[in-house]
Amino acid sequence: MTFKTIIEPFKIKEIEPINVTTEEERVKYLKDAFYNPFKLKSEHVLIDFLTDSGTSAMSSRQWAAMMEGDEAYAGSRSWLKMEAVIKDLTGFEHILPTHQGRAAERILYGYLGGKGKVFISNTHFDTTRANIEFSGAEAIDIPVEEAKHPMLDHPFKGNMDVKELERLINHYGPENIGGVILTVTNNSGGGQPVSMKNAKDVKQVCNKYKVNYFLDCCRIAENAYFINHRETGYEKKTYKEIAQEMFSLSDGCVMSAKKDGLVNMGGFLAVKDKALSDACTNLLIITEGFATYGGLSGRSMEAIAVGLEEVFEPDYLKYRIRSTAYLGEKLYKMGVPLIYPIGGHAVYIDARAFYPQIPVEQYPGQAMVCELYLKGGIRSVEIGSVMFGKKDKDGKFIPAPNELVRLAIPRRVYTQSHIEYVIEVFEKMFEGKENVKGMKIIEEPEFLRHFTAKFERL
Ligand code: F0G
Repeated sequence: MTFKTIIEPFKIKEIEPINVTTEEERVKYLKDAFYNPFKLKSEHVLIDFLTDSGTSAMSSRQWAAMMEGDEAYAGSRSWLKMEAVIKDLTGFEHILPTHQGRAAERILYGYLGGKGKVFISNTHFDTTRANIEFSGAEAIDIPVEEAKHPMLDHPFKGNMDVKELERLINHYGPENIGGVILTVTNNSGGGQPVSMKNAKDVKQVCNKYKVNYFLDCCRIAENAYFINHRETGYEKKTYKEIAQEMFSLSDGCVMSAKKDGLVNMGGFLAVKDKALSDACTNLLIITEGFATYGGLSGRSMEAIAVGLEEVFEPDYLKYRIRSTAYLGEKLYKMGVPLIYPIGGHAVYIDARAFYPQIPVEQYPGQAMVCELYLKGGIRSVEIGSVMFGKKDKDGKFIPAPNELVRLAIPRRVYTQSHIEYVIEVFEKMFEGKENVKGMKIIEEPEFLRHFTAKFERL
């Protein structure tokens, strides 16, 4: 017998109360936060879709494992467990623990980067780009053409444009390529999956020119689900086998375990090459911690070891991907313009299409983020010109390619009734939407401005 309803494949053992706020209160909270949800207190948020990173609910097995945490400075038993799980999954010989993904990025891309170097990705995540640019190198995004059309139905909109990859390598010279980074799933490109065929094609080009090929694998289990369900030849493979095959194509990976590691903190860097590992280990010890803990406690490493296994459980992955799609498909039917098909960890709304009256230089995405908070206490994040917009040397505004709002769903945290509530809030978003005004930045830092910028409503 099959049923239409996909239940959460877990029971709730412990609860965290949600502080219910009124719209009147939220008007004040948002003003005090300078219209930037990163500045809101979490206790003033009803449904927190700011990120799926570090917000997972851990399982009873993970909590139990944490009690076994070995906090030895060197040679910790918990490290050996985490290392063994990662070696088995990735097949890489050299594993370096870090406190989160961006620390691994700083070490690897800082080492391989520097002035004159170029990195190429399907889409660099914002911290990846920032670490590369901070080293003095350049980061270039080359998603496939399909990725540029939000509503176009295509099974693998996360793919990299392989022809363009080859052209860029020839243009800059293989010796100047710091690395090619395949982000799976492609977070900034809508949480869209990358096919195994694309991963293989990228490998072929990288092999031909002998350039480093890395995976940004923080959502590789979710990506494996899509490959299993959408790519011919993978129907019978387990999700883990699919991930293992993808790792085997690359020279190394960077992982923020705060996503598919199902933990609240942690990450790692894994590489094939010993010389590269040695160079990175030096940086690891200087900036993160000794090689057998990086920036992690023994108990955190225990939780990662268990999380990296649990994330590949078929019932979990099915619930995870289908529940994200449930929200997205309801919004789609309601007429909310969004990236289609729905990605793995989040629903991405096209704010420019929702608020056609707001010009891009007035940040329609940020306006939507504010409306969602005011109307329903939902916290989301702008992925548009606030995050990726630039100014040319004459100070002219260069918008991001899209003006999106991301509803990122924490893993194992919200139930279907929370999701039904969000759907109802969206029904209210249509009321008076033509009167919603844009935003203006009144203060911003040099890097990653979306985290701390202050805004004013126009
Ligand atoms: N790579 C990707 C694809 C990511 O999505 C993230 C984080 C990182 C690297 C950096 O990892 O946060 O552990 O340092 N993404 C979060 C998000 C923050 O909300 O999408 P980190």
